[in-house]
Amino acid sequence: MEKRATFGSKIGIVLAAAGSAVGLGNIWRFPTEVGENGGAVFIIIYILCVVLIGMPLMTAEFIVGRKTHKNPVDAYRSLAPGTGWVMQGILGIFVAWIILSYYSVVAGWTLQYLISAVTGKVTTMSDSAAYFTHFTQSAWMPLVMVAGVLLMSHWVIVHGVQGGIERYSKFLMPLLLLIIAVLVGGSFAMPGSDEALRFMLKPDFSKINGDVLLSAMGQAFFSLSVGMGALLTYGSYFTDDAKLMTTARKVVVIDTLVAIMGGFIIFPAVFSVQTVAPDAGPGLVFITLPSVFQMAFANVPMVGWVFAVMFYLLLLLAALTSMISLHEPVTAFLIERTGLSRPVATTVVTVTCILLGSLCSLSFGPLADVRFLFGMTFFDFFDFISAKIIMPIGGILLSIFVGWYLPKDMVIKELTNNHTLRFPRWLFVSFFFLIRWVAPLAILAIFIDELLF
Ligand code: TRP
Repeated sequence: MEKRATFGSKIGIVLAAAGSAVGLGNIWRFPTEVGENGGAVFIIIYILCVVLIGMPLMTAEFIVGRKTHKNPVDAYRSLAPGTGWVMQGILGIFVAWIILSYYSVVAGWTLQYLISAVTGKVTTMSDSAAYFTHFTQSAWMPLVMVAGVLLMSHWVIVHGVQGGIERYSKFLMPLLLLIIAVLVGGSFAMPGSDEALRFMLKPDFSKINGDVLLSAMGQAFFSLSVGMGALLTYGSYFTDDAKLMTTARKVVVIDTLVAIMGGFIIFPAVFSVQTVAPDAGPGLVFITLPSVFQMAFANVPMVGWVFAVMFYLLLLLAALTSMISLHEPVTAFLIERTGLSRPVATTVVTVTCILLGSLCSLSFGPLADVRFLFGMTFFDFFDFISAKIIMPIGGILLSIFVGWYLPKDMVIKELTNNHTLRFPRWLFVSFFFLIRWVAPLAILAIFIDELLF
């Protein structure tokens, strides 16, 4: 049998995993959630969820992946043969497929906006809200864009683990961080930055309720890419000397900083134009920001144009590295379970996601009347079942699997790279405490509260 691929370097491992984590979740979904859930309070709860639940779960996924060097389904099958645990792997593949489909829709919007920014449309159009609605509701262009972004991700995935995922992550992630730094600088120069800082940093504790808790937790899962098979699959390509806890810590720090920077880029702009409230929802970065770029353009044309291009490029790159991490688990599963070659397996995923993504995309226009549970469109429904239902369930199962099902020595052996790394004892004690008790109970409590009340 062909030897299974691994990443080639530690920096490649961190950047690939950070590429998965840093995505539209940070720059589009996070500011939206912060806006809808009361600002600073949400950020505090979010950080608690990230540290106490997200980081241990990310480490747990790395453990299962690196221990087995297999795709999610085979990983659970080999660690727990003949049990129902394999369902956890199947659920993971299923959600990755779903998320990739609806994620491509928003990624497609960013591609469209990047093109419009380059051609100067973004900085000169008269009504950004009308443009957004007109574009998202039309039938064809959004579908072309969905196919476009999926083909980009396809291109990376066909080139495999080192030649595709690692190579592009090592190039795209530093570029992305550079763009963020420039944009944050630009945003702080805006007149609304004081008000924005107050909104993001000064908590109003009366705003806490079950909904805010579930949203913060859902956002933490989504942003860190945990609770299903994506990081498990990346973990399965880690080399034996990769440090799992250290990698998880680095990825969590990068992801959280980028999310907060995302807020710092967007809210000063939002408060500066005053035409859209911070809780405007998904349209925030597609409706509000164009007005800001136009303001800048009116003053110094070159600056407005450059910022617009950089911003949408940033969104697109962030989206792309995350799409790759959703594309790979499904592809690896198909390759290893059905014996398809990499190009064929990748194509199956690309094509099915173009189809499902088109359904989601059309739910903003021609299919807007097709409603599910609670009146949700395809798009809302996909987002809801993945971020708010399947990911929490996946999180609980993952914590039980690694905290209780796997033998403790096996977990410690994996964390210490077969006892070659030394860690202070409190680190293990807290890891096991968090993964055994805090993570499953907190997720369960928040989840039940949301479903019942
Ligand atoms: N974390 C990504 C973001 O913030 C989205 C993402 C990529 C994801 N891979 C995932 C979410 C796996 C859940 C599971 O945009």
